[in-house]
Order: sequence, then C-alpha cells, then structure tokens
Amino acid sequence: MKPGDLVQNFQAHFNAKPGFLVRAPGRVNLIGEHTDYNDGFVLPMAIDREVWIALTPRADSTVRIASLDLETESAFELHSLTPGKGWLEYPKGIASVLMNAGYDLKGFDAVITGDVPRGAGLSSSAAVELAVARAFACSSNFDWDAVTMAKLAQKAENEWVGVNSGIMDQMASAASRAGFALFLDCRSLEFQHAPLPKGVSIVVLDTSTRRGLVDSAYNERRNQCEEAAGWFGVKALRDVGDVGEWKAGSGLSEAAFKRARHIVTENARALEAIEAMKTGDVKRLGRLFNASHDSLRDDFEVTNDALNVIVDSARELDGCYGARMTGAGFGGCAVALVAEEKVTAFTQAVSAAYRQRFGLEAAVYVCKPSDGAGVAPLDERDRL
Ligand code: GLA
Repeated sequence: MKPGDLVQNFQAHFNAKPGFLVRAPGRVNLIGEHTDYNDGFVLPMAIDREVWIALTPRADSTVRIASLDLETESAFELHSLTPGKGWLEYPKGIASVLMNAGYDLKGFDAVITGDVPRGAGLSSSAAVELAVARAFACSSNFDWDAVTMAKLAQKAENEWVGVNSGIMDQMASAASRAGFALFLDCRSLEFQHAPLPKGVSIVVLDTSTRRGLVDSAYNERRNQCEEAAGWFGVKALRDVGDVGEWKAGSGLSEAAFKRARHIVTENARALEAIEAMKTGDVKRLGRLFNASHDSLRDDFEVTNDALNVIVDSARELDGCYGARMTGAGFGGCAVALVAEEKVTAFTQAVSAAYRQRFGLEAAVYVCKPSDGAGVAPLDERDRL
C-alpha cells in the first residue's frame, strides 16, 4: 500500500478527499536491551516500515477508522470511552490519555494501513499509537512535541492496553530522524541523533517465531531488576556502576544477580556503542552486538532457540560484523550489522542457513533509518 493508494482508498470510503496524511514508524533497537525500564541507555532507530493514516477532522467527537489491513470499520465516541478488546484499544487509549492530559480533542474520519510486522518486536503498537496521536494533533489543532507525545503514548500502552513496557519504543517512533539512530537516556529522556557508520546496512532477521506469555516473562524480568536495585540500595540498576565485586547470595537471588549483571554490562555496551558510532568503528560496534546477545542469552535469559540459531548463522557469514536479538525477546527478530556490498549475498545465505538448521522461513528486511512520526504531503505517492 502506497500513501497515494491510501488517499484514493479514503476517497472511495468517505466520498471526499482527506485533509491530512500522517505516519509513524516501527523501530529496531540496535543495542541497550531491557535497559529502558532500568533508567538506562538505549540506541534504537526508526525503520522504513510504518503506519499511515489518511484523515479528515470532524466537528463532533466521533472517531471513525477503517482499517485496510483488517478490512473493518470501527467507531468510538471520545466522551464515552470504555475498554474493550482488539486493535482499537490503541486509538482509544491514546484518546483517553490525551483528554486526561487536558487536550481538547475533536473526532475524525480515517483510513489506516501499515507494514510493520505485528508481534515481531518491531513496535507495531508504538507506531499505531504515535500515528493516532499525530492524527489527533491534526484534527484538534494542537502543537506536536515528540517527547510529550511519546510519554503519553507509553501511558496509553501501560494503563489502557495494560502492557507494562518502557519508554524506548514510543520515543523511537516519535523522535527519530532519517539517517540516524536515537541515543536515549531513559532517565532524563535527553537524546542525540547518532549517525550510522558509512558502508553498513542494518538487516532485521525475523525468525517467524512468536512466543506466548511474553508479558508475564517481561514482567518477571522487571520484578527481578527491581529486586536487585533494592538489594543494591539504588533507585534503578542504572545507578550500579560496575559488576566486578558482586556475587549472588546474602539476600540476592541467583536470577536477580544475573539480570542485574546483564543490565549493568548492557548499559556499558550502549555507551561504548555510541562512541563506536561516532568514530565509525564498525568492527567494535559489531563486537558489542555479539556481546549483547550473549548476555541476553546467558544472563537475562530472553532468547529462544530460533533467535540463537539465526544469530549464530548470521555471525558466521562474510560481511557480518555482529548480530543480536532485538526487542523484548522470546521470539521475534534479530538484527545484524552487515557490510553494504555484501548484503544481497548475506540475506540469501542467512535465510538458507536458518531454513536448513531450524526448518523455518525467516523474513529479512534491510532497514533504512527513518524519520519519527510526522505529517506527509497528501500527494506523496512513492515512499513505501
Ligand atoms: C519491549 C518494550 C520496550 C523495551 C524492550 C526491551 O520492546 O516495549 O520498552 O523494554 O522490550 O528492550
């Protein structure tokens, strides 16, 4: 679906031209995994897989959204929001947090589509949240501030949808810039746009595995991190500087110790990664990717066999500087850093190796670092 097609679809559906076209991207995290809810550092980038909404403001408080992908049309009233089930909880959650924050919202008629793979760890939900927030900014004519909107979208995800995620996904979808990764301090929410080293491609490898119970495993990791922070007597594991001296025991469980060791070393790796990016040291960046995966596998214990196999397969190939799982884990995607001129051969070889060793088809996406949520010109036809 191209944005131009979306505009035509809107016309067919609502018998009029849309007033606005908005978009928000998914993201891939390069390094700094599970550090966001520990007040730590992350380095995601927005990808060229996005959610698009064509809309026209309404004078009343009805929101009507036709989903091209699901072939459904749904509607809700801004002043009588009640929780339910399904994808509409994202727009309703965004509406609810915006109104609670004092925004005077107007409804809209919209058509939505997107190509962020769902459930793969590429933040399709953050993309929907930020695109809907952008749509409300257009229908209700308020100023867009990326950090404010990311915080509100996270609140919608936590409180309305009921998923206890950190701030990384929403910040990446809201505040990224084309050509750059987003280096984010999750405590202060200060960020820098960090240029990607020249001559490398970011390749996302979707294992095609999806694990149920991700939420409970994720919450368990959060609790273990909090337990460890309490044991160290700090606000968050971000405040623990070095793993040198510690051992499990005297009140700290083996599991919490290992979770803490991952967070502390991962924060150090994220800080080193930003240096490697600034100096264009791709080999060092690749080594950090590898160490991150190993720590997520052995200490944080959030990889599955599929992720380990695809990462090992990628690392063995010519032109691959490093590879690691990305996102929450337990299935979904890995990310590899690959020399640009080797990408075509790499994508073929990694798919073949994964198929042979694991018996599944991987989906492979060579991703471009993209802009955060924004308004697109209505006649834009060739972006997707
Ligand atoms: C999910 C969450 C993020 C982050 C990652 C792990 O994507 O939504 O907030 O915690 O997992 O780094």
